[in-house]
Amino acid sequence: MSSRTPFPDKLITLERHIIEGEHSHPGATGEFSGLLHGISLAAKLVWREVTKAGLVNILGKTDRMNISGDVIKKLDEFADVTIYKAMDHLGHLCVMASEENEDLLHIPEHYPNGKYALLFDPLDGSGNIDANVTIGTIFSIYRRVTASGPGKMEDVLQPGHRQVAAGYVLYGSSMMFVYSTGHGVHGFTLDPSVGEFLLSHENIRIPRKGTIYSTNEGNTGRWVPEMQRYVSYLKKEDPETGRPYSARYIGSLVADVHRTMLYGGIYFYAGDTKNPNGKLRLMYENNPLAYLVEEAGGASTNGRIRTLDIQPSSLHERSPLFIGSVDDVSIAQEFLSGKRV
Ligand code: AHG
Ligand code: MN
Ligand code: MN
Repeated sequence: MSSRTPFPDKLITLERHIIEGEHSHPGATGEFSGLLHGISLAAKLVWREVTKAGLVNILGKTDRMNISGDVIKKLDEFADVTIYKAMDHLGHLCVMASEENEDLLHIPEHYPNGKYALLFDPLDGSGNIDANVTIGTIFSIYRRVTASGPGKMEDVLQPGHRQVAAGYVLYGSSMMFVYSTGHGVHGFTLDPSVGEFLLSHENIRIPRKGTIYSTNEGNTGRWVPEMQRYVSYLKKEDPETGRPYSARYIGSLVADVHRTMLYGGIYFYAGDTKNPNGKLRLMYENNPLAYLVEEAGGASTNGRIRTLDIQPSSLHERSPLFIGSVDDVSIAQEFLSGKRV
C-alpha cells in the first residue's frame, strides 16, 4: 500500500487494544475496559468543550478556589464534573478523588461500589486555557485495600507503585490518550471524523539521555545552591553533543512530560525556600506520570527517593518532581545530594 496512506500501519482502536490486553491475562474480568472506556468518553466530552473555548462562555474563572489555593476555571469545573459523572455509575469504582475537591468523592448510594479507586487532575495546565495552549487530564487507578462498601481514605492514600493503571489525555493540536496497565505505554490519537482513538504511538520508550530540560526557571532565586549548580551544569557545553541542553517549558505539566517522554531529557519542579515541596501534587500529578515514565523506561524522584515509593499522608500533598530520562534524573540527583558540584 502507498506510504502516503493516511492511516497508521495497524488500525487498532483504543477499545480493541484494552480488550486484547485484558485477554492476555487469564482471569481478567473486563473491568479495565469499562474503566478506561469511561475515562476516554469523559475526555471526548471535555475536548468538545475545550475546542469551543472562546466561542461560548466557557473561558475564564469561577468565583471559587480549590484546596491548593488555585482559582478554579470554568473548564476545570466542567472537566471535574464530567469525569465524575462518567464514572460514578459503572460499578467498577468504590471512591474517587480529584485535585479540585477537598474530600473524597463517594459513589452515589444507588450505584454499586466496585474494587478500584480513581484519582484525577481533571484539567492540568488550566492556567493556559485562555491562551489556547495544550492542556490535559491525568488519571491514576488503584485496587482498593478495604474489603467492601464505600471506599475509604486508605483506598486512595497508597504509594504510587501500587497503581494498576495510569494515563493522561492531551488536548493539543490533536487529542491524544496515553495509558499503561503495567505492560508498556501506548498512545492513541483521536480521529475526530469517526470519534475513535487510533493507536499512533505503540510502546513508547523514553531515550536513556536527552538534550532538553524543562522547568520554571523564574524560581531560580528561591532554589538551594545545589539546584542552582545543577542548572548551571545544564547550560554548559556538553562535550558529547557540543552544545548546552535546550530549555523548553510549556507550563502544562502533562504536555511537558509528554514531550519529555518522546524526546528524552528532564522535567523538574523543585522545592524552594517559599514552597519546600514545590507546587505539584503527588496523588494527581506526580504519581501517575512517574508510573508512565517508569513504564517507558525512564525514572522519577523527589530528589531523594523514587516518586512511586513515597508513602502519601494526605490527599492534596505536594512533592518535588524530577522526571525523565534515567541518566538525566540520576545526574540531577547527584547534584542534589552534593555528590557532584
Ligand atoms: P493545574 O492546572 O492542574 O493546577 O496544574 C498546574 C501545574 C502544572 O500543570 C504546571 O506544570 C505547573 O502548575 C506550572 O507551574 P508554574 O506556573 O509555577 O510554572
Ligand atoms: Mn495539574
Ligand atoms: Mn488541574
